[in-house]
Amino acid sequence: MKEKVEALKAEITDYVAAKNDELEAFRLKFISRKSVITDLFADMKNIAPEDRKEMGQLLNELKNTARDKFNKLIASVENTKKESTDAPIDLTLPPIPDTLGSLHPLSITKKRILEIFERIGFNVSYGPEIEDDWHNFTALNFPENHPAREMQDTFFIEKDPDIALRTHTSSVQVRVMEKQKPPIRTLSPGRVFRNEAISVRAHCIFHQVEGLYVDKNVSFADLKQTMLYFAREFFGKNTKIRLRPSYFPFTEPSAELDISCFICGQKGCKICKHTGWVEIGGCGMVDPNVLKNCDIDPEEYTGFAFGMGIERITMLKYQINDIRLFTENDIRFLRQFKSVN
Ligand code: PHE
Repeated sequence: MKEKVEALKAEITDYVAAKNDELEAFRLKFISRKSVITDLFADMKNIAPEDRKEMGQLLNELKNTARDKFNKLIASVENTKKESTDAPIDLTLPPIPDTLGSLHPLSITKKRILEIFERIGFNVSYGPEIEDDWHNFTALNFPENHPAREMQDTFFIEKDPDIALRTHTSSVQVRVMEKQKPPIRTLSPGRVFRNEAISVRAHCIFHQVEGLYVDKNVSFADLKQTMLYFAREFFGKNTKIRLRPSYFPFTEPSAELDISCFICGQKGCKICKHTGWVEIGGCGMVDPNVLKNCDIDPEEYTGFAFGMGIERITMLKYQINDIRLFTENDIRFLRQFKSVN
């Protein structure tokens, strides 16, 4: 029996395991309940009583040797696994390019508009999307029964007092004028809401940028020149503008702002409906009543305001034919704006 123990000890010490199945073979042979060592312990009963103590010690030693070896084998098998996954990197392979996202086309347009106006001294102001009647309508000189207050245009949240989703960002300009005295040069970009059926050209949620300039001696000529500056910066330096008389409750006089069609060079195309002009927004001189409502003396100060739809301008600039594309999150659409950032 002694020789058997010596032979097993040698086998255990020399055992090498590189893979899991070799490790398992070792476990079965030397560690498990049916191992050769267990068999030897069972054989103890056949040993002469005076030799039992010594044999017992030898067997315990053998058992410990097997355990220690087993732990070492586990560690070495794990190491070889790690090494094989840490394969050397082939530095000559082409790199996997980072897939960067892109700004949303509406964000790109908004950013451009803000940059253009920031260069001539406009700051940016924000206001709440849920507005009271005063800031969205009354302070802006909307007559009591103006159709824009009716249910078909406005999403009301509460009645008496009226709380609604703002229908334009002119409400932010009222907030600015209430807080700040002239000179004021501010742009208010943001989301607006109108109760309209969603179609190719219209959405019930869209974005506007409105601008306001209030100071001493601000004239219609300033408005015109500012609009021309913007149109040239945004649509190209040969762009012309045209102002058509219009009506807004908060401006007097009021105008629609058209730009010369940059797609056909005014030769006539589908986009400009063969007129050579496309509309990009509304503008006008701030109505004296609006200034008064905000505690600004209309005898001392005058101002102009303008408003543009960000969706509309983006659609024109990139010739997008369906407003719904902006909110569908179709990656094939959004990807096309990667290079524009
Ligand atoms: N608030 C107007 C709209 O939403 C746009 C506008 C702003 C017109 C400022 C004139 C002056 O349609």
